[in-house]
Amino acid sequence: MQFSIRALAPGQAKTGCLVLAAHAGGALAPAARLADRAAQGALRRVLAQGDLAAKAGSTLLLQRVAGLAAERVLLVSLGERGEYDVGAFREALRGVAGALKGIGARQVTLYPAEFAVGGRGLPWAVRNAVLGVRDAFYRFEQLKTQKKPPAPALEALTLAIAGAPVTLQAQAALKEAVATADGTDLARTLGNLPANLCTPSYLADEAKKLGRQFRLEVRVLERRDMERLGMGALLSVTAGSRQPPKLIVLRYAGAAKSRKPLVLVGKGITFDTGGISLKPAGEMDEMKFDMSGAASVLGALRALAGMRAPVNVTGIIPACENMPGGAATRPGDIVTTLSGQTVEILNTDAEGRLILCDALAYAARFDPDAVVDIATLTGACVIALGHVASGLFANDQRLADALRAAGEDAWDRVWQMPLWEDYQEQLRSNFADMANIGGRPAGSVTAACFLARFTRKLRWAHLDVAGTAWRSGRDKGSTGRPVPLLVRFALHRARPRT
Ligand code: BES
Ligand code: MN
Ligand code: ZN
Repeated sequence: MQFSIRALAPGQAKTGCLVLAAHAGGALAPAARLADRAAQGALRRVLAQGDLAAKAGSTLLLQRVAGLAAERVLLVSLGERGEYDVGAFREALRGVAGALKGIGARQVTLYPAEFAVGGRGLPWAVRNAVLGVRDAFYRFEQLKTQKKPPAPALEALTLAIAGAPVTLQAQAALKEAVATADGTDLARTLGNLPANLCTPSYLADEAKKLGRQFRLEVRVLERRDMERLGMGALLSVTAGSRQPPKLIVLRYAGAAKSRKPLVLVGKGITFDTGGISLKPAGEMDEMKFDMSGAASVLGALRALAGMRAPVNVTGIIPACENMPGGAATRPGDIVTTLSGQTVEILNTDAEGRLILCDALAYAARFDPDAVVDIATLTGACVIALGHVASGLFANDQRLADALRAAGEDAWDRVWQMPLWEDYQEQLRSNFADMANIGGRPAGSVTAACFLARFTRKLRWAHLDVAGTAWRSGRDKGSTGRPVPLLVRFALHRARPRT
C-alpha cells in the first residue's frame, strides 16, 4: 500500500473514497465541515437522519455526494465529543479500515487531523493512522494454497491536510510510520511462521538478509563459538534439539561512532516444548510464538534502519529450540553461565531466562548506553497484566520512565512491576549460586530478578511480552508488539522532543 501526504481541500479531493468524521449527535470534524460546505449541507442532512450510529468506529458509506469530487464518502463516528480519547481514536480507525476492506475504492483520502486527540499533535495522528490501517490490512496467507480471500482493493492512501501546508514534521511522521509498519509486519510474519520453517537458522538468514537490504553489520555465532565463550546456560537449553543454535548480532549505526549504542536483546526460542519439564498439549502450538522478542528486535532494527534514524542500535538474539530428548538438560542439572555464576535448572521450561542471561552478559561487550531485553518470558505476566500491557522491569527509573512514555505515545503500553531485592531469595538454591525458578508467587517478578543478576553493571530494562506479542483464539496471530514502542523509544533518545 502506498502512502502519501499533501495539502488538499476536502471538496476537491478526486479520490475513490473520502473519509470524514463526525461526533455523536452530528458535530462534524474540521475537514468534514469544509466538505459539507462544498456539498451544500448534504453531510449534515444525512447525519440529521440518524443513519450514523453514535458509537466510535461506526461508519456510513455515501455514493457520489453532489458538490464533492470524491466518488464515495465514508463517514465515521468519533463517539461522544466529551469522551474522545486515544481509545475512541483507535475504534474510529478500526472502523474505517474495516469498511475500506469491504469496498472497491483503490485510492482513499483521509484527513488525519480529523482524528487528532487533544494534546497529541498532527504527527501523532499521522503515525497512528498509518499504523492502524497497516495493522488492519496485514495478512498472513503465504502457507494457504486454497480459498484465499480476495485481497482488498485499496492501493493508495493519501493523508490530506486542509487549509495548511504540509509540515516537515508531518512528512517525517509519515516516513517513520511506514518504516515502523514494515518492521511490525516483519515481526508478525516471523512470529506467525511455524517452528518447522522458522528455525534458529531461518532467523539468522533473515538477519543476514536485513543486513544486506539495510546495511547492517550482521554476525552469527555458532555452537562452537558459544562453547568457546562459555555460554553454558544457552547451551543447556539447546541440548535436546536437532536444530543448531544461533546467537545473532546486528549493528545499525545511524549516529556518530562516539555514541554508545542502545542494545536490544530478544528471546528467540523458535519452539518451547518445555523440554523435560514438558508442557501440557493444550495450546502448545502457540509456543511457536516464543521467538516474538527476537522478531521484535529484527522488526525494530528494520524500522530504524529503513527510516535512517540517527541512532546506534545493536540487536542480540539468542535463538534455539527447547526440546526434550536423550541429550536434553534434566531438572537438577547445574550449568555455568557466561557470567561465571552457576545455575541449578529446577525446571527446564524456565528456559527463556537461561538463554537471556548469557545474551545479557554478552551485551556488556558492546559498552551499551542502555540494554532492553524483550521476551515472552512468563505465563505469570499474562495472569498479572492480561493482553493489554506488557510487563516492564528496570534497574534504572529514568530508563523505565522513558520506556513507559514511548509505550503511551505508540499506544503499545507497558506497566512497571517491582524488581525489589526482597524477591531475590525465592531464587535460592542449595547446590548452585541460584535456581532458575522462584516458585509460583510473583512468577514474572522472580524471572526478572533472575535476569537482574546478570545486568548489575548495566542500565537495563526487561519487557515481558508474553501477554501482548500474540493473540489466541479465533484471531490467533502475532501482533508485532512491542515494535512500535521500541521504535518510538529509540527515536526519543535521538531527538528528545519529537
Ligand atoms: N515461553 C514460556 C512463557 C509463556 C507461557 C508465555 C505461556 C506465554 C504463554 C516460558 O518459557 C515458560 O515456559 N515459562 C514458565 C516458567 C515457569 C516454569 C517458572 C511459565 O510461565 O510457566
Ligand atoms: Mn518455557
Ligand atoms: Zn519460553
